[in-house]
Amino acid sequence: MKRIILIGYMGAGKTTVGKALAKELGLAFYDLDWYIESRRRKKVSQIFAEMGEEGFRQIEHNMLHEVAEFEDVVISCGGGTPCFFDNIDYMNSQAQVVYLRCSPEVLHGHLLMGKTERPLLKGKSPEELITFIKEQLAVREQYYNKATYQLDVSLMDNYEKIKITVEKLREILSV
Ligand code: S3P
Repeated sequence: MKRIILIGYMGAGKTTVGKALAKELGLAFYDLDWYIESRRRKKVSQIFAEMGEEGFRQIEHNMLHEVAEFEDVVISCGGGTPCFFDNIDYMNSQAQVVYLRCSPEVLHGHLLMGKTERPLLKGKSPEELITFIKEQLAVREQYYNKATYQLDVSLMDNYEKIKITVEKLREILSV
């Protein structure tokens, strides 16, 4: 039985890499945000707007406990998932957890390009965004660093690099 969880900051490429890894290994792929949206029939941004971040974190915690029971899966989590409750310890106990590490500058570039609505980043200018990323990453790294496995993905931004990242993941996870 294989169960792999990818964690890391928003814009690190958790979903892209997770999908590619799952395909390569013949495993099912779950994105925790998408799972939450389908179970609650609401967008993450709507849940934030209606229940606040605290409400979202509770739902995220509960849904993590559902998906992390599934077998033969690759799961990509939201950027904040490991940083609340005992989520990171629970993940480590359930799965092979990999922190996809990425520099603030590269994250900034990805998040400026990304078109998705991320509630925590809404309305920030490019200057405010880089400051926010640096500050939040500094706080979050203490949780991310608890992942059993870590891989730097700062240089991963095209198809070839995604392929190489998947190969590296297979190597470090022995899968
Ligand atoms: C969040 C990251 C988002 C989503 C929510 C909160 C965070 O997921 O869960 O907007 O706190 O970093 P992605 O990392 O997939 O963007």
